[in-house]
Amino acid sequence: MPSSNPKNTEFINKFNFDDKQLENGRMLFSQPCDFILSATKINQVPETEIAEVAFAGRSNVGKSTLINALTGRKTLARTSNTPGRTRQINFFDLAGRLMLVDLPGYGYARAPKKEIAEWTALIEDYLRGRRQLYRVCLLIDARHGPKETDHQAMALLDQSAVPYQLILTKCDKLKIGNLQLRLGDLNDELSQHAAAHPHVIATSSRNKNGISELQAEIALLAVTN
Ligand code: GTP
Ligand code: MG
Repeated sequence: MPSSNPKNTEFINKFNFDDKQLENGRMLFSQPCDFILSATKINQVPETEIAEVAFAGRSNVGKSTLINALTGRKTLARTSNTPGRTRQINFFDLAGRLMLVDLPGYGYARAPKKEIAEWTALIEDYLRGRRQLYRVCLLIDARHGPKETDHQAMALLDQSAVPYQLILTKCDKLKIGNLQLRLGDLNDELSQHAAAHPHVIATSSRNKNGISELQAEIALLAVTN
């Protein structure tokens, strides 16, 4: 489907980022970003103190693509048309100022049951037990809205008191009216979640909409240098 409105995210994202914050975001993400390691077991995660921002969400929602869009790289995180691409927790060091963490997707039913159980447990262990996890970007496909598995993820994050923010992905696939309806529903829902950030950010990695705003938001969490 072609993009119906390339700027359809503006009405959502224009709230409170000033030029200075946008510039800080741009500067942070123009710095080198390096793959550190992939963890398939929780005892393999890096023993660092640096603040982390993790990207969580259903399989195929666009987590790895969003990390590439943020860092301006095409192949830093591996992406795929096929759900279930990312099966490990991948750590990327952004200039020693922040760790970006690409999580496996949840809600992918076609993998072997044992594998699904293993990677779900891995995600949950990571989300529950990571002291330096400053923010989870919880990605929701703008076309579909939150599904049962997303509600479960939100409940886990609320219980674990991990701050999280909803990020709409693939907004290039929606007309502005539908995006407005989606946002209205999400705002109603957010008020019931203790650990949720009050602002939703709408993105399209394809059109690069909302990417500067998300860079600015994440830059607020980075170590200053
Ligand atoms: P898993 O690793 O399997 O959990 O998936 P993921 O969430 O990392 O998704 P990934 O980044 O691999 O993207 C899945 C598919 O969605 C790919 O075909 C991407 O090209 C596509 N995609 C990602 N972001 C966008 C977007 O903003 N717009 C459109 N139209 N497609 C997108
Ligand atoms: Mg992925």
